[in-house]
Amino acid sequence: MIIGVPKEIKNNENRVGVTPAGTMELVSNGHTVFIQQSAGLQSGFGDEEYINAGAKILPTIEEVYSTAEMIIKVKEPIEPEYTLIKKDQLVFTYFHFASGEALTNAMIASESVCVSYETVEDPDRSLPLLTPMSEVAGRMSIQQGAKFLEKPLKGRGVLLGGVPGVPPAKVVVLGGGVVGTQAAKMAAGMGADVTILDISMKRLRYLDDVMAANVKTEYSNEYNIRKHIKDADLIIGGVLIPGAKAPKLITRDMLKDMRPGTVIVDVAVDQGGCFETTKPTTHQDPVYIIDDIVHYSVANMPGAVPYTSTLALTNVTLPYAVQLANKGWKKACAENLSLQKGLNVINGDVVYPAISEAFDLPLKDVNEYLN
Ligand SMILES: NC(=O)c1ccc[n+]([C@@H]2O[C@H](COP(=O)([O-])OP(=O)(O)OC[C@H]3O[C@@H](n4cnc5c(N)ncnc54)[C@H](O)[C@@H]3O)[C@@H](O)[C@H]2O)c1
Repeated sequence: MIIGVPKEIKNNENRVGVTPAGTMELVSNGHTVFIQQSAGLQSGFGDEEYINAGAKILPTIEEVYSTAEMIIKVKEPIEPEYTLIKKDQLVFTYFHFASGEALTNAMIASESVCVSYETVEDPDRSLPLLTPMSEVAGRMSIQQGAKFLEKPLKGRGVLLGGVPGVPPAKVVVLGGGVVGTQAAKMAAGMGADVTILDISMKRLRYLDDVMAANVKTEYSNEYNIRKHIKDADLIIGGVLIPGAKAPKLITRDMLKDMRPGTVIVDVAVDQGGCFETTKPTTHQDPVYIIDDIVHYSVANMPGAVPYTSTLALTNVTLPYAVQLANKGWKKACAENLSLQKGLNVINGDVVYPAISEAFDLPLKDVNEYLN
């Protein structure tokens, strides 16, 4: 198969879809890999390294899209890319369709085949291609939150771990999944007083068992959320309902109950955000303030640590990419049910229920394509 890896064009997105190691594996499986010039540079991989691994370099993004049968990238396509994607082209990337109507309509119009990283799902309902980026974002949320709690950056001026004689900051984590767990771990390691809220008792039991003594768990409902946000210093939003928009757990009217300078980091921004006042921001301009509450809602947090993120992402995407390339998407998705869940839009038809529900679009049975 002819595989194309474009350079990411989303603001401050420095990751790349395939590493030189991944290139070598795809090439050794008999595929041709075209990398856009300097696509890996920001992740620490120069063109030479890709060439040595067997790739060919193409100078422009247009050439990559027009040459490739399969595109492997990182972030969802943005407007300038919409018209580059062509009929029957297989696009393997994060899409987050449920929070992007324009993107959904553009991919329907393109008649391409869209396999979303974030909806590939294992039988235990875990999301193997979301996990490493959630690990990065969860850990980073505390790093960023701690920074924006500093007074010159408009925060409350609180040190996360406190000091002897002064109590630590209170960190509230909404959602105890991958993001929440990693956030709680980092915050606890820095000495903060941490509370995780989740609606899954199974998850809360697990967290209660494995977390340090300065991490408490509590069932997530409006009452408990209202109680905890009043004296929180840093709130992390890490809830997810797979493939659907995030529930709004903190509404605008709740901001006035919080202390001025509280920092809220909405990691779930890519699914619409779990705070009503969330709007996506960029690494260039990551925060804004509403009712004295500092909002951080960068939609591609792992993009700021591209070296770590690219390696973590491609470790998990490559085995699926190899299957798609070796067998073609129909056979690969028929044989691998986890990968099949990644199919979102096929030749103009929506095949993923949550996207059809989000935008009231007709839903086609994926089996009509696979059988
Ligand atoms: N901004 C970024 O750069 C970035 C990076 C990675 C992941 N994310 C996003 O972070 C979010 C979380 O990802 P994850 O991998 O941790 O998901 P996950 O599925 O591992 O965890 C989500 C958790 O939310 C819980 N939950 C659902 N509804 C809840 C509610 N009402 N109250 C409390 N908890 C609730 C679930 O029970 C689950 O434990 C996703 O939207 C993901 O796309 C964003």
